[in-house]
Amino acid sequence: MQSSTIKHLAIIMDGNGRWAKERGLKRTKGHEVGAEAIRDITTYCAAHKTIETATFYAFSTENWKRPKLEVEFLMKLLDRYLKKELKTYQEHNIRFQAIGNIGAFSKALQLRIRDTEYLTRNNKSLTQILALNYGGRAEITSAVNQLIQEGKTKVTEDDISESLQTPYSDIDILIRTSGEERISNFLLWQLSYAEFYFTQTLWPDFTAKELDTILASFTQRHRRFGGL
Ligand code: FPP
Repeated sequence: MQSSTIKHLAIIMDGNGRWAKERGLKRTKGHEVGAEAIRDITTYCAAHKTIETATFYAFSTENWKRPKLEVEFLMKLLDRYLKKELKTYQEHNIRFQAIGNIGAFSKALQLRIRDTEYLTRNNKSLTQILALNYGGRAEITSAVNQLIQEGKTKVTEDDISESLQTPYSDIDILIRTSGEERISNFLLWQLSYAEFYFTQTLWPDFTAKELDTILASFTQRHRRFGGL
């Protein structure tokens, strides 16, 4: 693979709460502006042509530990986002897919997610994946259990890769905003050879211009995939 090819970009969006706090606003406002940043970065990726898939960590399995009101707000925001941005998906030819255990969400939200996937299934310029109630260990465990159910007694790396929920599994670039430098149980299998970029920018302030700088820097990195 050419080092400048970006099949899969992954982003850990962090810093919504701090962004709001710095402005004396409620944390929920940070999430709202964060949702707008998802839309802007997604449409930029769709226009970029060399990016095939962009995966955003929108709700982790650990996020249930947040105050009930904040969790409820995030669920409503997701529903509003998918409803409002259907137009964006269609206009920019973006396919939407979800990964994670969405069975834990309300029936109405599950329906919204499945409907959006269905309505955008033929779009070709970019696949946007939202990781929702997602955990990397859970994804790997479920892949292995599926293989056991299929009767396998020995599995290969390819077997696991093919049984994961995430399509186009290998990540080229992982970005995490807000100065934190952790993986937080995101795409553990798929990040094996990813290049990592950590930025101090809080997610609601993250722009296409900064992404462009990261993409330009990625093309300069020499990826050896364990070789010389
Ligand atoms: C982290 O900020 C952010 C998340 C909980 C995940 C990303 C969520 C959004 C961008 C909200 C909108 C999502 C959709 C799909 C509509 P934080 O609250 O952990 O920030 P902090 O570390 O500064 O408190």
